[in-house]
Amino acid sequence: MVDNNTNKHIYCPNPYILAEIMPYGNVYPCSCGWIRGYSFGNIFEQSFDEIWNGEKAKKFRQKLYDNDFSLCPGCQNLEILKEIHDKEPKLISEPPERILLGLDELCDVKCIFCRGENYKVDTNLIPKDKEDKLLEILSPWLEKAKYVKTNAVGEVFASKISRDLIKNIASKFPNVKFEIITNGIQCTKENLEKLNITDKISMMTVSLHAFTEKTYNKIVKGGNYKKVIKNIEYLSQMKKERKMDRFELHFTVTSINYKEILDIIKLCRRIDAKVRLLGLDCSRDLEETYNKINIQDKKHPDYNKLVKLVHSQEFLNAKDVVIQGHDYFVGLEPISFWDNLKNKIRNKCKIFGVL
Ligand SMILES: C[S@@+](CC[C@H](N)C(=O)[O-])C[C@H]1O[C@@H](n2cnc3c(N)ncnc32)[C@H](O)[C@@H]1O
Ligand code: SF4
Ligand code: SF4
Repeated sequence: MVDNNTNKHIYCPNPYILAEIMPYGNVYPCSCGWIRGYSFGNIFEQSFDEIWNGEKAKKFRQKLYDNDFSLCPGCQNLEILKEIHDKEPKLISEPPERILLGLDELCDVKCIFCRGENYKVDTNLIPKDKEDKLLEILSPWLEKAKYVKTNAVGEVFASKISRDLIKNIASKFPNVKFEIITNGIQCTKENLEKLNITDKISMMTVSLHAFTEKTYNKIVKGGNYKKVIKNIEYLSQMKKERKMDRFELHFTVTSINYKEILDIIKLCRRIDAKVRLLGLDCSRDLEETYNKINIQDKKHPDYNKLVKLVHSQEFLNAKDVVIQGHDYFVGLEPISFWDNLKNKIRNKCKIFGVL
């Protein structure tokens, strides 16, 4: 409820500053799962103005101004919310400053929680007649962009579409900084140089999911642990030389890798990176695998071992760890495991909440 005397509203900046442009060209103002797939529109069917300042966008901003979070049932970013005392809602917005791109799902490996053995990449995420016009279509979105993050749904170095897009954005919008999320296999010095962005990297995220090669091979099918570790060392050097602002390793927690969490934390300390522990999501047709490895589930035989581990002093003393529940997939209830954990330990340790 809004207090009429103070005109107090809870403000979320995301629908003004963030656009996630995802498979098939749908635009979201925040993580798709948190807002249950509420899209502002589609870049292949509508103009920038029709989407960013259209009826659906205005409705979203109005609701947040009214402190009505019914379109944000999975919000895991309460830290971002602030109080404002504006007399009028701001329904129209300038172009966003941060763009997250997930337009091509091509990948060079199959991680067991992302893609099954028989997974077929959908090559129709971008209409064929629009492939050559991608930069043109995206240009109004990039007008005020400071940061572009890619690739949220595939592997950036395995996708010519993603690589060309980065090169073209870097050349047409020289002020844009890049946030690259990758499995790290092809993230070499040479490949980064080919993208022409070595002086424009704001953040690098490498998804590693394991400390040992044996565990890595159980998770990243077709991967190459030694190459990833070599590339991580190079990125660590870049971070130490301040050639990027942020460096993170992603570690999706499962029953296969949870015993290596403390080792990954130690590794991250050495390489000057943060570790982001991701809660497991049930992805598409992978229910059988999910049930086997979903250690977040109280019914999982190893659940208590994970609980013990995250309550150990060593874990609680860890710094630069981010815990992120995952709830990308529309229709799923938020996983409460990480939320409960965060509430329990928030006051006891230095672990950050979600970003
Ligand atoms: C889909 S990938 C795309 C970027 C890149 N290919 C990579 O692996 O970092 C983005 C992140 O989602 C994570 N991910 C994929 N499937 C997941 C699932 N079912 N549950 C939790 N995290 C998942 C990956 O491990 C990765 O860190
Ligand atoms: S889900 Fe949370 S962070 Fe996202 S737009 Fe809604 S309130 Fe903001
Ligand atoms: S590397 Fe990324 S996109 Fe490829 S299968 Fe693994 S999580 Fe999915």
